[in-house]
Amino acid sequence: MKTLSTSSPQGLWYQHAVFYELNLRAFYDSNADGHGDLPGLIQKLDYLRDLGVDCLWLMPIYPSPRHDDGYDISDYCNIDPVFGTLDDFKRLLDESHRRGMRVITDLVLNHTSEQHPWFQAARADRNSPFRDFYVWSDTGQEYQDARIIFVDTETSNWTFDPLAGQYFWHRFYKSQPDLNFDNPAVQQAMLDVAKFWLDLGIDGFRVDAPPYLFEREGTSCENLPETHSYLKKFRAFVEACNPDALLLSEANQWPEDVREYFGDGDQMHMNFHFPLMPRIFQSLALAERAPIEEILARTPELPSGCQWATFLRCHDELTLEMVTPEVRRFMWDFYAPEPRMRLNRGIRRRLAPLLENEPARIRIAHSILLTLIGSPTLYYGDEIGMGDNIWLEDRNGVRTPMQWNSGLNAGFSAAESLYAPLIADETYGYPRLNVASQEKDPHSLLNWLRGVIRTRRLHPAFGDGTLRLLPCENPAILAYLRQNSDQTLLAVNNLSADSQTFRLDLAAASLTPLLEGETIQEDGSFSLPGYGFQWYELSSNPESKVS
Ligand code: GLC
Repeated sequence: MKTLSTSSPQGLWYQHAVFYELNLRAFYDSNADGHGDLPGLIQKLDYLRDLGVDCLWLMPIYPSPRHDDGYDISDYCNIDPVFGTLDDFKRLLDESHRRGMRVITDLVLNHTSEQHPWFQAARADRNSPFRDFYVWSDTGQEYQDARIIFVDTETSNWTFDPLAGQYFWHRFYKSQPDLNFDNPAVQQAMLDVAKFWLDLGIDGFRVDAPPYLFEREGTSCENLPETHSYLKKFRAFVEACNPDALLLSEANQWPEDVREYFGDGDQMHMNFHFPLMPRIFQSLALAERAPIEEILARTPELPSGCQWATFLRCHDELTLEMVTPEVRRFMWDFYAPEPRMRLNRGIRRRLAPLLENEPARIRIAHSILLTLIGSPTLYYGDEIGMGDNIWLEDRNGVRTPMQWNSGLNAGFSAAESLYAPLIADETYGYPRLNVASQEKDPHSLLNWLRGVIRTRRLHPAFGDGTLRLLPCENPAILAYLRQNSDQTLLAVNNLSADSQTFRLDLAAASLTPLLEGETIQEDGSFSLPGYGFQWYELSSNPESKVS
């Protein structure tokens, strides 16, 4: 049963939502097999509701050989048995909806697993109707202008399949053959998949890797017009099934290219702001707002009904694809000094270790995340400042078991062996760092985050308001107004480790602070400690001393 309204008085539900991405396998194991599962997640829904989560994003839940942690799907209309059953999934939807939370999951349109029956049939027989579900070549020489994404592993986007006697096209691992979207049967098959889950009651999809659906000679094979036409068709279909469903898209592109994924408000409802994410870290490293300011200046207006998704970390490496080579070098040197911390064009570390476990830096990063633009996405475990294990393969070092308590297996599982080792080091290990201990500590990251999320929720302009950066002589200050027809909010952030005093031109406004801590001085100037921040509600007041 759904208890959610279609839209809030201002804006749409996803414009006010806090998203939470989780790896089902890592969250909570209910049957002691060492893997997290759906019944386990259901037991933890109150925890997520209390954190202030509005929408869960589950990484892929489908049957899969897991060469890419489930992003290699072998059956689109089922649940991986390790996670439970379709009935468990329906129960998750009901239990989430009952608590006012929505659920979306990854939908991988671009490719399947090599184990998928479509690919198995395609490679075995040139005359199979499934042959044309994939992209084949006799030479493996086509589309040379398409970049390789997993540069640390793959050397070509073509791989020769001896059984098929041809090369097949893949933008990711060679175990993930790309589907051929020029084939109308493929287009229809993916609409059928969407319908299957929407009929079950799912609230939408995180649309994985949308830029790569089509291939055309002489292009980068990204963001092609054909891709956008299909996504429009996909959106119309999804909307006809459920007008309230969300498409949250993962186009990892520059702002002007991402803009196309919103179409005229008739493609994706949301897209992650990939270029903004590394610039939040870059600005903190440099103690300068300029990188954030520059990318916001390049960020286009969105059609109505659309929204950016923002994030600090996710299940992948911290991608540095949307920065210049010079900035990538700087970011690697600063945030990933050991070569093992680097992966592809990114960094395989979690939030707390990236920010040297410094509470003030972790908190200011969240202050920016929760107020700057769009709807924030939290990554499981980051709410307690979990650590990582860079020695695990691929991106597995940021996908380790959730640390619930200091007991057996961090309270994650009663099994003897787990799908991945626990984080057990001195600083980030579960005996010290876990949900139970942070729940007891009023000053913990977890309790602090619950509080600021509550504050954000009470001030909807942080979700749907316009954004205006305020000029400030001090380059370390990031200050901005968020405004909707009901309220004007101000956030001020000190990106440097040193305390700063500064003035803002806020003529005739009186400011009510929304967070603890006095930041305005008698003469109307602001004063923030190192990495300090404050949020305010503004009201017009001709008597105001703030200048
Ligand atoms: C997306 C996912 C990533 C996955 C890739 C291929 O980028 O975020 O985890 O490996 O798609 O499906």
